[in-house]
Amino acid sequence: MNKNMHAIILAAGKATRFKTGRTKLLEKICGQEMVLYSTKMLAYLQIESTVVVGHQKEKIKKIVSDHHKDTISFAHQEEQKGTGHAVLCTRDKWNKDNILVLNGDMPLVSPQVIKKLYKTHQGKKAAISFVVSHLEHPGHAYGRVIQEKNSVKIVEAKDFTGDPTKHCWINAGIYLINKKFLQESIDQLKTDNANQEFYLTDLVGIASDNKKTVATIPAPFDLVRGINTLEELWATEEVQRAHLIRYWMQNGVRFVKAQNIHLDITVKIGAGSIIGGGVYLLGNTIVGNNCNIQEYTRLENATIGDNSTIKSHTVINDSILYENVSVGPFAHLRNGTVVEQNAKIGNFVEVKKSFIGNKTKAKHLAYLGDATIGKQVNIGAGTIICNHNGISKEKTIIEDNVYIGSNNTLVAPLTIEKNSFTAAGSTITKNVPANSLAIARAYQVNKEGYAPLLKKKIKKKSNQPKNESII
Ligand code: UD1
Ligand code: CA
Repeated sequence: MNKNMHAIILAAGKATRFKTGRTKLLEKICGQEMVLYSTKMLAYLQIESTVVVGHQKEKIKKIVSDHHKDTISFAHQEEQKGTGHAVLCTRDKWNKDNILVLNGDMPLVSPQVIKKLYKTHQGKKAAISFVVSHLEHPGHAYGRVIQEKNSVKIVEAKDFTGDPTKHCWINAGIYLINKKFLQESIDQLKTDNANQEFYLTDLVGIASDNKKTVATIPAPFDLVRGINTLEELWATEEVQRAHLIRYWMQNGVRFVKAQNIHLDITVKIGAGSIIGGGVYLLGNTIVGNNCNIQEYTRLENATIGDNSTIKSHTVINDSILYENVSVGPFAHLRNGTVVEQNAKIGNFVEVKKSFIGNKTKAKHLAYLGDATIGKQVNIGAGTIICNHNGISKEKTIIEDNVYIGSNNTLVAPLTIEKNSFTAAGSTITKNVPANSLAIARAYQVNKEGYAPLLKKKIKKKSNQPKNESII
């Protein structure tokens, strides 16, 4: 099939109905740009492809080239004069017997649809074959397929004046065209329509009028949804998201509130895991087996080892967590953080670009930045690593079995060697040798019997001028 077909993806349009000013082809659907759904599907079928670009062409070319390592070619449509004109701009790429044309704004087309279209097209020796879908209320977006006794044509929604309830088959926007017929007929397209554009869809009427074979295949609407508006973008993403959720459910993942989570297409989830409501799993996130990702957590490019628990309202970006780790609630891990097996990161702890060793605990209210922390370390509540001196970021090393007391400030660069203790409330500015206790806080003075005297002084003070010390 692939030897006999060259594909054209139409992606030059201005997306005026989006009203964002940006090309819709780069809007993401479950984390992947719209145009890449078509290019990847065609690459999977090993069909040589050309993308027609115009509006914001450099941005589209970059994304496509980056993903396909320059195996896909481009054609330029400087002025957007309609889908027929867009195909005309690819004339020098028509090097196979059949040209497959796909609108770039219908991302959910499956390879099976293309295979079926090809089979029908070849079987019927058609001049043009295209995909249709049945819609009870086609609305104002799709071209209607009008089939009469011996003729068939596509009438665009804006040009359609017939009874909408009688014409419920719509043109999906996928065409397989015999090259010879395309070469003969493309110059016959005219702009005498509501949009004053060259409509590719008029080729169907031209073929029919010339008694050439026109073939159609039906496809479920969800596979051929076109996206012209932000509302249709939302609706299409819902379909894709449901598809992904269903796939992971079939592979042993429990979604506690499936209607209320987001999954990117690139995410992987292990069997036995539970995903709570409001969870966002983004980018190249990998959740291991038997994990519990609790509600309102957001994981982006995060790897979570088996049997780990990420408690609610946690945010993790670009980090790797090994097995049996517990993080959160309300924790924030980011920028290449690595957390080893059995470690515990608790509530209101932020960890940036740090390594956290096996069985280490930082359970409450801490900031750990640019730190390498060994095994079985205890980070007391309120510990802050001062990793930034106002100009540069500095490193902190905390070796195995260290105990950092509560409310410490650890001023980097700093090394606290193994088995050491730091006293609560310390500001540690100097390296601590192994097996030591570091105390770095003001000494406490107890004035015995002073409390009643202090009370008297306070009473007197209320009758005196302000700003005078009472101690
Ligand atoms: C098109 C079909 C319609 C079909 C519908 C299916 C035409 C005339 N109509 O309508 O019958 O039911 O798709 O979704 O083809 N583009 C260009 N250059 C242009 C114009 C468009 O590259 O000059 C690209 C767009 O970026 C888009 C695709 O072609 O990806 C389709 O264009 P669009 O304007 O969305 O066509 P529809 O009005 O949806
Ligand atoms: Ca469209």
